Amino acid sequence: MEAVSEKKVQTASPEMAEKFKQTVHDAARRFRQIPESETIRYVSHLDADGLSSAAIIVRTLIRENRKYCLSIVPQLTEEVAVQLAAESYTCYLFTDLGTGQFGLLKKHLSARGKSVFILDHHHIQDEFEAEGMVHVNPHLAGIESSREISGAGVSYLFSKALDGKNSDLAHIALVGAIGDMQEDRGFSGFNREILEDAKASGMIKVITGLRLFGVQTKPLHKVLEYSSEYPIPGVTGSESAAIQFLLQLGILPKAGNGWRKLTDLTDEELVKLATGVVMQRIENKEPDEIIGPVYILKHEAEGSPLRDAKEFATLLNACGRLDKASAGIGACLGDGKCREEALRTLDDYKHHISNSLTWYENALKQKGAGSGAIILDNGVTIINAEENVLPTMIGTLASILSKSRNFSPGTFVLSLARAEDNFTKISMRLAGEKSVKGRFNLTEMLTAIAERVGGQAGGHHEAAGALIKTEKEEEFIAIAREYLAQRRIEERVAS
Ligand code: C5P
Ligand code: ZN
Repeated sequence: MEAVSEKKVQTASPEMAEKFKQTVHDAARRFRQIPESETIRYVSHLDADGLSSAAIIVRTLIRENRKYCLSIVPQLTEEVAVQLAAESYTCYLFTDLGTGQFGLLKKHLSARGKSVFILDHHHIQDEFEAEGMVHVNPHLAGIESSREISGAGVSYLFSKALDGKNSDLAHIALVGAIGDMQEDRGFSGFNREILEDAKASGMIKVITGLRLFGVQTKPLHKVLEYSSEYPIPGVTGSESAAIQFLLQLGILPKAGNGWRKLTDLTDEELVKLATGVVMQRIENKEPDEIIGPVYILKHEAEGSPLRDAKEFATLLNACGRLDKASAGIGACLGDGKCREEALRTLDDYKHHISNSLTWYENALKQKGAGSGAIILDNGVTIINAEENVLPTMIGTLASILSKSRNFSPGTFVLSLARAEDNFTKISMRLAGEKSVKGRFNLTEMLTAIAERVGGQAGGHHEAAGALIKTEKEEEFIAIAREYLAQRRIEERVAS
């Protein structure tokens, strides 16, 4: 199976792309001016995109013979900025964050004569330029980057501008983009260019196949049972139905005593499976959208969670969110020990997800019995997990729930969990198809709500996060309910 058909997607105009690339080259030129004796103080974000960015930059700095000191943070808060400012470094580099905190970095770092480089793709805020600060962000060239380039992509282009040899890191940028949900049955814009680099360097192979999660690692019937992104009616959700379905297609789910994986099937069986799955989805609007490009990291072993780029992104998310960021970065860079630790962390992550979902289901059952944990308004769900879910996992919970079939399309999902120092972390997602999602800018909405209680928010069109003082939780929830109800009414009037 070869030749991937990719969806036509709107991309930045050549002028915008050129303008953006110019800022990347200017940043590389200014970076080269930093004396080699300087240690670069480097900070990146903890999600898959942030860790992919870090892997690219770390390898680049090593190749450039640069000394560096790296921290991975869940949020770039004012406290973090103050701490960084108190350190004796003079040159600071931020990836996959910094744009949303531009004002803070200006106030605490730049104003003290420190030089600041930001390589980011988050939405820009009121402040975005200042003397002594190098800011690379596609939004500054008018490019809406929620699909076209990730933080790791910006880091990669910077790295390649420093030295063309770094094009062998392109596949890591794609893992970051996939982690940020930028891949949509194909890549667009700069991501597509980066994919060409990754293919040219022999690191990635794109095949056309069933876009099912976990094909490298899970038994085939389990993969079908859990196919929530592309549900298969009568199969997804039931283990026995999945086994039955395979048997009806003439595909044995077992070989000897062990379950078979999709990677164990013969070409003939693969065709039977693909046809059977599409037929089973025939009532869907797009039955064959389950078939599309699959990104294989060629240098990784068959059957490893590192081989499928989507599974790799999940592994990185696991590492970042469970305080094992260096294992994730090391895994990207091929370090054996880090890989082992990252794989163990992936198992822990699955347990955390399952515990969070169990907590949610129990809280939902108790609703009405006085539990204030879940509020279900019309088209708005607010989940306050307090200490029951890690603040680093609350975004993952919101994402999973927003994709589940229990939420009608267009439902706003807001989730809260307690973070350190009396702060509460908030994540916001929207349930439903991409067409629904395009209508709202979640970052704008969450910023409007969070700012009313003195909080800070940021993110993308389709995924936003915020941090507020825990004592403001109730007030935040009340404002959010009113604000979102109002947006619903406006939406209904407009449509
Ligand atoms: O943490 P979560 O996955 O909900 O974050 C969604 C998006 O919002 C991410 O891109 C993250 O960088 C951004 N965010 C932010 N400021 C925060 C929290 C999250 O910009 N305080
Ligand atoms: Zn990102």
